[in-house]
Amino acid sequence: MQEVKADDNVPPQTDLPFPFNIRSSMALWNVLFADDQTFIPAKDKSAQINRGDYLVNALAHCDTCHTPRNALMGQNNDRALSGGSLGSWYAPNITSDKQAGIGNWSDAQLAQYLKTGHVAGKAQAAGPMAEAVEHSLQYLSDDDINAMVAYLRQIPAVSQPGAPRDMQGKPATSDASLRAVKSPDAGWQVYSSTCANCHQADGAGNAFYPALFHNTATGAPQADNLIATIVYGVHRTVEGRAVAMPGFGPEAFYTDRLTDQLIADVSNYVLKNFGNAELNVTAQQVKTVREGGERPLIARLAQPAVYGSAAAIVLIVLGVVVSRLRRGKKHGA
Ligand code: HEC
Ligand code: HEC
Repeated sequence: MQEVKADDNVPPQTDLPFPFNIRSSMALWNVLFADDQTFIPAKDKSAQINRGDYLVNALAHCDTCHTPRNALMGQNNDRALSGGSLGSWYAPNITSDKQAGIGNWSDAQLAQYLKTGHVAGKAQAAGPMAEAVEHSLQYLSDDDINAMVAYLRQIPAVSQPGAPRDMQGKPATSDASLRAVKSPDAGWQVYSSTCANCHQADGAGNAFYPALFHNTATGAPQADNLIATIVYGVHRTVEGRAVAMPGFGPEAFYTDRLTDQLIADVSNYVLKNFGNAELNVTAQQVKTVREGGERPLIARLAQPAVYGSAAAIVLIVLGVVVSRLRRGKKHGA
């Protein structure tokens, strides 16, 4: 009461488009999708698994990012933790499926990932997952981490088509052979000049920088995390040590910024040589990631332009109906 200085700053008025400006519409959404039940431990599960359940689904909000959402942005809990888009980034399938999820990670690898955001030969945490590790998970006790691992191990596996994302690609034998793969290739030029000094020409990285093959960011069924990494970089401070890759997107601080087309080129180079060779990244896709990803349907519907065109269509249809009716009358007369 005494310490905080009075401030007459007026915060801006909330300005949400219809139908989000109707507060009571949230009540309907809550009835449909919100799970406001108090946590009840499952009797047939161990104390450790129940503790993990509470941490994963209540306190740590893993499901908020990793569970897919329906058209109204409700969580699709029938496919819990099977992967969800976060706009620019994609939170992968972390169910126990061996091929689409993390069923082939050992308990120790999973615990290490949650504590540090890095497991060599598997994955590293960038974007929103880096935030989760940096600001929260690194501070958890081993008991809490192990409880989450135990819980994740026994949730229903959700399978999806595609090869395991942490097993794709292999080192290239030499820079020259890399060139031969796709030459002349703008992607190779960007890779050699911009990425290879850290990730090495053969993509195998070194003690500080990760390999780009056997890496979930390059082997995934969607290229979102690869593109977002190149655009925004990687920033994560764990146990006082900063892990950093510069971002190369047009907004990046870095002076040698890459255009959307060059980011698409180097993404394709990395995918073809070290990752999921079936994917093909376009400049348009890079632009979408840079602008925050695909807008959810519900947000697109709430745009004035959509209302305008919906109203125009209704008017045109009414006009046609009315003129038909009139003509009908004339003929009848
Ligand atoms: C704010 C959103 C968010 C939250 C909360 C979150 N994650 Fe993630 N998670 C992500 C994203 C995005 C990635 C991909 C990161 C990357 O590849 O750089 C990821 C990656 C992972 C991976 C690695 C999967 C792979 O194939 O690379 C695991 C395991 C994981 N998360 C587990 C968890 C667990 C367990 C929790 C809760 C304790 C959690 N995450 C909370 C967004 C989130
Ligand atoms: C200055 C060194 C450096 C440069 C240059 C660099 N990287 Fe990285 N890269 C890193 C570091 C550090 C990480 C994160 C390692 C970790 O999280 O443990 C990383 C991580 C990655 C990842 C995994 C991200 C994830 O979400 O899991 C990919 C993919 C990647 N880099 C691709 C590239 C590409 C493509 C280029 C060139 C356009 C590039 N890097 C340039 C240092 C660099």
